[in-house]
Amino acid sequence: MHSPLELRKFVAPEFVFGNGARFLANRYAKNLAAKKILIVADKGIIKTGMVDELCNLLDESSLEYDIYSDISSNPRDHEVMDGAQLFSDSQCNFIIALGGGSSMDCAKGIGIVSSNKKHILDFEGVDKVHIPSPPLICIPTTAGSSADVSQFAIIMDTEQKIKVAIISKALVPDVALIDPYTTLTMDHYLTANTALDALVHSFEAFVSNASSPITDLNALDSINLISHNIKPLLNDLQNIDLRSKIMLSSLEAGLAFSNASLGLVHAMSHSLGGFLDLSHGECNAILLDHVIDFNFISETDKYLKIGKIMGINFKDSEINNQKELIINHLKELKKACGVTSTLKKLGVEEKDIPQLAENAMKDPCIVTNPRRPTMENIEEIFINAF
Ligand SMILES: [Fe+2]
Repeated sequence: MHSPLELRKFVAPEFVFGNGARFLANRYAKNLAAKKILIVADKGIIKTGMVDELCNLLDESSLEYDIYSDISSNPRDHEVMDGAQLFSDSQCNFIIALGGGSSMDCAKGIGIVSSNKKHILDFEGVDKVHIPSPPLICIPTTAGSSADVSQFAIIMDTEQKIKVAIISKALVPDVALIDPYTTLTMDHYLTANTALDALVHSFEAFVSNASSPITDLNALDSINLISHNIKPLLNDLQNIDLRSKIMLSSLEAGLAFSNASLGLVHAMSHSLGGFLDLSHGECNAILLDHVIDFNFISETDKYLKIGKIMGINFKDSEINNQKELIINHLKELKKACGVTSTLKKLGVEEKDIPQLAENAMKDPCIVTNPRRPTMENIEEIFINAF
């Protein structure tokens, strides 16, 4: 347990949470001196009609805009560079990202490339961005990535086939407009996977060796909200109260992980996602209980706190049983969310594991994992999740 006297900082953007928050975009853009806006939104979001809704708002305020939508679910380096080219060609001075983690991460990348005039991959790692981005408003439409409040962006290096983590205060948006109504368009699969991503964010932030009393508060409440509301939501996808609770849990998870960072699940999941272009939430969910099996010994008290918040009764159980109770509870939760896959079913081959482990060892998220793994440890965890 860390002492509250240890130095810790907490970075968060201005954010508005609640019904109708998305309708404030034009007002904020005007206040932040927008002249011409680049809207960054993928094609799936355009189909929902939410981009039209945003354009109408900007028209009402006589704000000019252009739209960039060539964004994959794991945003690529060249997509960021193309977006930055459009930002420059269209003489934009402002960005609004509307969408899930991929649109928001791509928008963040476009922002720092535009201001620093460098290639996106030059920013890999911690604190490598020297010039701030143009003003950025994020409007999330999923409840999981929390890119709208975090200082992270994850971009695919298409040549190396790895996901690159960029961590910098320059990636914290100026404003996040967090409106639970936007998440009503998500289907069962996306709702489950994004919520499980948020759950993993909170788990990893809570046991991170950079955690603090403030990130712990957010992480624990987020785990409480997700673990008790995700199953009811998956049976009632149009329930706005449940959508709001999961959106709030994602926000809290984002505040926690943006400041306490993540751990081994994300390091391994970034490696997997880059190598095989897999769903981030699903990779995390598959790996979580296997990483807990490895980490438990280093942060036992914290894992027990998480277990209690999720409703596990540890009465009279031995330490090894306590670990099993948490792992079994998570397996049951994952099953109820429809995550029953394994790495093998996702197309991972055993011969890939050494390379996957090597890439995971280089990921910045590994630094804050409570237990330092060796290459062999990571290979073993991959095999356990096979
Ligand atoms: Fe994540």
